[in-house]
Amino acid sequence: MKVTLSVIKADIGGFVGHSGMHPALMDIAKEILEKEKDGLIDYYVTHCGDDLELIMTHTKGIDNQEVHGIAWKIFEKCTAKAKELKLYGAGQDILKTAFSGNLKGMGPGTAEITIEERPSEPIIIFMADKTEPGAWNLPLYKIFADPFSTAGLIFDPKLHPGFTFEVHDVVEHKRVFFKLPEDMYNLLALIGQPGRFVIKRVKRNLDNETVSISSTQRLSMMAGKYVGKDDPVMIVRCQSGMPAVGEVLEPFAFPYMVAGWMRGCHHGPFMPVAFEDAQCTRFDGPPRVIAAGFQLNNGKLEGPVDMFKGPAFDWTRNKANEMADYIRRHGPFEPHRLSESEMEYTTLPGVMKKLENKWLPVTQE
Ligand code: 13P
Ligand code: 13P
Ligand code: MG
Ligand code: MG
Repeated sequence: MKVTLSVIKADIGGFVGHSGMHPALMDIAKEILEKEKDGLIDYYVTHCGDDLELIMTHTKGIDNQEVHGIAWKIFEKCTAKAKELKLYGAGQDILKTAFSGNLKGMGPGTAEITIEERPSEPIIIFMADKTEPGAWNLPLYKIFADPFSTAGLIFDPKLHPGFTFEVHDVVEHKRVFFKLPEDMYNLLALIGQPGRFVIKRVKRNLDNETVSISSTQRLSMMAGKYVGKDDPVMIVRCQSGMPAVGEVLEPFAFPYMVAGWMRGCHHGPFMPVAFEDAQCTRFDGPPRVIAAGFQLNNGKLEGPVDMFKGPAFDWTRNKANEMADYIRRHGPFEPHRLSESEMEYTTLPGVMKKLENKWLPVTQE
């Protein structure tokens, strides 16, 4: 049976500030999905920080009008509730007022995949707050290309032929493919700049099977000004000729630096947390990621298991806090503050405009 997994997300208002999610919005989402469940196989609602995450399974394929329509209805109703409750940034990611068939270019983020469900189909859905889609570049590289992280690249004959990475240039709206391991250096040359080059999809070279898909929308580009970060989601399939669950989680044991955090213009450590800790607090962060593990069962979502809960990731969280302390002391200086090109779509242009008439030529002293 072919099953489509749709993960659709939006920030429709924060509680409190940009830190978390009001339970009333989660209730609305669950209520609507329960009413619409005949058109779906299954659903699950959660949040990471101030982002509402809708996970749906169905047989209608990707970019489906009905499925996107359900998500749109939820975001609209939640926005109205967020306004009523005076939540912060109500309707933040909802850039358009009329739904025209699918969610492309409308603000919400989507990651969707249609698969022939295997005899056992473990998947992990990663959901982040206070960062950008390029934040998945480093772990995706490690999961699918680094044998020091994924042992299966050496030992499993189905992983051994490697993986092909589809990279999007989110500034110039074009894409390029890299077949690894051969193309490793070219891939790294691009994805080391995660604000611009973002891994959209990974396929297994053995049979072209899609193993990972991420959301890549850039809200700021659509809106033309800073309206919040594009807090991303990612789906990864695991086991039986794909990286094991533990190999997929392994790169997150290192709290690497990502862009986002306070006002979307600071670098900070990416902290893997349990569902119950998906609230962004210190300096609106640090940027957080949760991982929901599911076993698909003819499209039914068995789960979730909270994959970052527990002692195995305690060291990472402690290290992330230490790193947060270190980098925070830079205040408004780079590399804590993002570089100029990254600030282009945030609040810096406003400051530059104010200074426009104050500049004088540098003359000989
Ligand atoms: P405002 O309080 O002006 O919205 O800005 C702070 C902030 O949280 C930026 O997203
Ligand atoms: P969000 O993108 O999560 O709304 O965060 C905005 C922000 O500016 C936090 O400081
Ligand atoms: Mg917000
Ligand atoms: Mg957010």
